[in-house]
Amino acid sequence: MKSSTAIAHPNFALIKYWGKSNIVSNIPAMDSLAITINTMKSETRVSFPDYLEQDAWILNGMEQVSLGQIKAPYDYLKKISSTDQPILIESTNNFPTAAGLASSASGVASLVTALDSALETKLSSQEMVEAAILGSGSAARSLFSGFVHLEVSNDNLKCATLLETDEWPLNVIVCVTSTNEKTISSRQGMEISKTTSPMYNDWVNNHHEDIKLAIQAIEARDFHQLGKITEHNCLKMHKVMKTSNPSIDYWNPATHVCVKNVKNMQKKGFPVFFTIDAGPQVKIICEPDVTKDVISFIENLPGIHSIIESSLGKGARTIDE
Ligand code: DP6
Repeated sequence: MKSSTAIAHPNFALIKYWGKSNIVSNIPAMDSLAITINTMKSETRVSFPDYLEQDAWILNGMEQVSLGQIKAPYDYLKKISSTDQPILIESTNNFPTAAGLASSASGVASLVTALDSALETKLSSQEMVEAAILGSGSAARSLFSGFVHLEVSNDNLKCATLLETDEWPLNVIVCVTSTNEKTISSRQGMEISKTTSPMYNDWVNNHHEDIKLAIQAIEARDFHQLGKITEHNCLKMHKVMKTSNPSIDYWNPATHVCVKNVKNMQKKGFPVFFTIDAGPQVKIICEPDVTKDVISFIENLPGIHSIIESSLGKGARTIDE
């Protein structure tokens, strides 16, 4: 066994999943389709220091009281390797953690990649997907580059890149409207929606149509069609959240202002659309040549904390020398 370091990037869902079919194995109740981006990243180093008496996880410089969300993928790999040597896991994110910026997806994807290398478990791509899902339902997508489809059928998973980054280069502008950790985690929110929202069953039953339209749009590189279905799916998910009991509303005033401005840009003819996950941040997807215009349109809006510009990114990988 050797120490190993891996990086992975967040991915943002264009067609989202919201709800689990199996809480124990953390399987999403429906497909999802996302883009992996490149400027934001999680880095995880796995090592085996002699002084260590038990497993330890340090996240952004802070020792964690337990392995928490990473315990299940960690156990999956450790069992295959059958090592009993204590492991030190050191993870960092170069962006706010647990604020609706998909830090759990990139964090878990970098963890399983680093563990697989350090423990020499040589997992297949399918096993990597299964290990990653145990940590976060969206983490499997961060193992892959570009446009990524996570298919779920009868609790069986399949994850693959639909188009590589250079096959349809788009940019993403993340409008950070708050760096606070969210008060309701995605996992808790999904269970609340599943058990209380009158819209939940329709959301699940009509979901496949959104996936189908988005795949068609991606294959045809049809920006307008992809934007239309992405915004529709996003607003539908947030309605499911709002009609839950208690009602879940991740948006803040700046989220609303941002969305209004994206709609204004569209009226002016700019190729842009938005999506929002379980948090108040607005992700604006645009064709690369209008990136600067979009930034100047939104950077001075009230409540914008910061802006992160990115193109599409690669899947998780080790960065050992
Ligand atoms: C709204 O997969 O991050 O971003 O399994 O609890 O980590 P956990 O949840 P997670 O939830 C993602 C919710 C979403 C939609 C999506 O990314 O498809």
